[in-house]
This record gives sequence, C-alpha cells and structure tokens, in this order.
Amino acid sequence: MSQLKQMSHLDNIPSTPGKFKMEKRLRWHSSLAKLTFWSFVFLGLIFIFFFLSPSSSSLPSDPSRRSLRTYSWGGPAWEKRVRSSAKVRARNGISVLVTGAAGFVGTHVSAALKRRGDGVVGLDNFNDYYDPSLKRARQALLERTGVFIVEGDINDSELLRKLFEVVAFTHVMHLAAQAGVRYAMENPSSYVHSNIAGLVNLLEVCKSANPQPAIVWASSSSVYGLNTKVPFSERDRTDQPASLYAATKKAGEEIAHTYNHIYGLSLTGLRFFTVYGPWGRPDMAYFFFTKDILKGKSIRIFEAPNHGTVARDFTYIDDIVKGCVAALDTAEKSTGSGGKKKGPAQLRVFNLGNTSPVPVTDLVSILERLLKVKAKRTMMKMPRNGDVQFTHANISLAQRELGYKPTTDLQTGLKKFVRWYIKYYSAGEKSAQ
Ligand SMILES: *[C@@H]1O[C@H](CO)[C@@H](O)[C@H](O)[C@H]1NC(C)=O
Ligand SMILES: *[C@@H]1O[C@H](CO)[C@@H](O)[C@H](O)[C@H]1NC(C)=O
Repeated sequence: MSQLKQMSHLDNIPSTPGKFKMEKRLRWHSSLAKLTFWSFVFLGLIFIFFFLSPSSSSLPSDPSRRSLRTYSWGGPAWEKRVRSSAKVRARNGISVLVTGAAGFVGTHVSAALKRRGDGVVGLDNFNDYYDPSLKRARQALLERTGVFIVEGDINDSELLRKLFEVVAFTHVMHLAAQAGVRYAMENPSSYVHSNIAGLVNLLEVCKSANPQPAIVWASSSSVYGLNTKVPFSERDRTDQPASLYAATKKAGEEIAHTYNHIYGLSLTGLRFFTVYGPWGRPDMAYFFFTKDILKGKSIRIFEAPNHGTVARDFTYIDDIVKGCVAALDTAEKSTGSGGKKKGPAQLRVFNLGNTSPVPVTDLVSILERLLKVKAKRTMMKMPRNGDVQFTHANISLAQRELGYKPTTDLQTGLKKFVRWYIKYYSAGEKSAQ
C-alpha cells in the first residue's frame, strides 16, 4: 500500500525540477532553497521507490506486497491453540510443523498425520496466487480434525522461532512454495521469496532449534528440465531447468545439501510428479480443463513440435500422501544441536511419481467421459516458457527405501476429483474463478 502512495506522490512532482525556477529575481534565494529542498525530496522518493518496489511487476498479488501484510500471532490464547494442535496422541507419534498446510498437498498430509495420532501444526500465508477461498475451505476442513493453521509467512523468522519455542517439533514437512511454471514470467520475485528466501529462513530456524527437527520438503519433478533420458532417475542430471520455478527448486536441493553438510540437519527432498486429486490446485490443467469443459469454453491443449505428444506422469494425491508420511517415518534424526553439527546426517532425494505417463489428450478424453460433456479442443504449439514435453518417474528408489507403491490410475483418480469438484462448486454459490 505504501508503495502506491509513493507512486502517486511521484506523479505530483514535476519530472524536471527546473520548472521551479522563478521569474522574479527577488525570490531567487528562496526559490533556490526550495529547488534544493524539492530535489532532495524527489531524489529521496526515487531512492525509496527503487528500494521498496518489486523489481518487475506491480500486480496486486505481488509477493513483496503480500509479505507486508501483517499477520497477527502470539499471546496466551494463540499459544494454547498451537500446543493443543501439536499434542501427540499416538504412542511413538511425531510432532510435525506442516508449512503450506492450507495448500493442496499440505491439507491432505496434515489430515493424514492427525488421523493417526501425530501432533500437527500448520503454517500458511493464505496468499492469493489462486482463489484464497479454496484455502479457507481446506482450513475449515482441517480445523474439524483438530489441526490449527497458524497464519504467517515462512519468511518470518520471528514467527518460526516462536513456534519452535512453544513446540519442540520432531519433524518439519515443508510444502509451502510458490508453484506454477508459467506464472514465473509474471511474478519472478515471488519464487525467490518463497522457494529461496523462505526455505533458507526455515532452515536457519531449524538448525538453531534444540532439538533440531528432521525435515522433509517438496522439491519437484521439474528439476529434470530438459533431461531426455526416461524414466527420470534421481541420479540423472538436473542442471538444465526449463523454468524459474524449476531453477528455484533445484537451488533448494543444493541449499538442503549445504544445511545438511554444515549443521547436520536431516533432509529429505521429494520430487513430486504432477499431483492431482480432490481439493487440488485450480492453476493445474486437469482442474481448469474440468471447469472450462463444464462451461462449454474451449480448452487449449499443447502439443510438442511435429505434433509430438505432451504427457505427464499424473500422480494421485493419496499416493503422494503415503510417500510423504513414509518419508517422515524413515527420516533419521538431525545430528546437530544449537546450530553446531555433531556428526553426519541423512540427506535424501526421492521421485514420487506414478510411473505411467499419460498424454494430455487422454486426460481430456477421460474428463469428457466423466463429465459427460464433449470438450472444445484447440490444439496449440507448446510455448517455450517452462513446460517440458514429457515426465516419467523411475520410483524404484522410493519403492525400496519408503515402501512407496502408487495404486491409483488416472481414470480412478480423476473420478474422485470430478466427484469432489461437482460437489464443492455446486454447494452454495461458490464458483471456480
Ligand atoms: C522476506 O524475503 C524477502 C525476499 O523476498 C526479504 O528481502 C525480506 O527481508 C524478508 N522478510 C522477512 C520479514 O523476513
Ligand atoms: C531406476 O533407478 C534405479 C536406481 O534407483 C536404477 O538402478 C534403475 O536402473 C532405473 N531404472 C530404469 C529403467 O532406468
């Protein structure tokens, strides 16, 4: 908001301070003083403007402005809610801080952990990258299961330190991130804010916590970028990201390596492959295809050069949740304390995919059958702005180490998604925006 005010101030100041020159010589001195004064004000404002303004856009959803939002947290009642949400009920249960808890995967993982008796505290900034009312609905769902979502930003170290002061979390499930591949061209700084600055901030607080938690976090299949060797294995090269999103996730993996190496933090990165299902993200193709097909709007389907197939290794949310929980359960303790490393700690990366890529055109056909509506298809060349042609996970490592075994095919998973979608958007006057 303050930036907007500064902008309008700037508008009121002539761009050429020379206009202030007075014709009357008598007033020369006072006008020189005024000129100097206004020049300083002008320069000062330019200075402030450049330092506070996001480098690129001034969208209403700009993350820098988002981060200026003040969240209210703290106080005895707040601490009581946090403690009660973190209460472990199962024998050998764990206490987990779930970041991005009002997100798609975050909600499902939080609910699953709570269900089996673990302590769970959520954290989410409820930003407006997509319709926040969906996040609020997920929050309400979690509240009914006893999970409290703290409203705040992972980039707020004071808040994170406070949370660790109130609860000695054994684990952190870090899912908060700026997602989406194409949005990075609109708002690059939001990726840096969440996926880089936010991650570093979180790891800083975790390394200083006593005891240090073990951390499982969401990387992405997009780190494989322009890699053409399929299926993608964890050892394949990941140094050719095709989007800023992918680059920040790849950077996250390197940052994880550093904190593991220097501070003995136990870190597990999960490379998710196109996760879908009920309560999903409206910015994903299966979601907005459903919306547009139902509205009779035409949908744009990308094809690769020479009419090549674009395919995705769609992975159903319940399978992903099992992988996340198994990663938490098999995570070894961090070895450091008070910011000092005591010995080597666990560092892992796993693919969590479905091992069966499906062409996007088949996805549309399945949706047509489930919705009983014919889609208006518009085929388009895939723009070179971050999307890759093909993803296919080799999951043998996760299978071996986590017992990960996806069981839901796309047809079955989409059926559950569509059932949820129709129920959710026909209840009340909610509309998918
Ligand atoms: C949050 O991240 C930004 C980078 O996007 C950084 O400049 C800022 O200082 C951080 N703010 C807080 C409260 O940590
Ligand atoms: C899958 O990855 C494992 C290593 O985790 C490797 O041994 C195996 O050869 C890979 N399979 C394929 C088909 O690439």
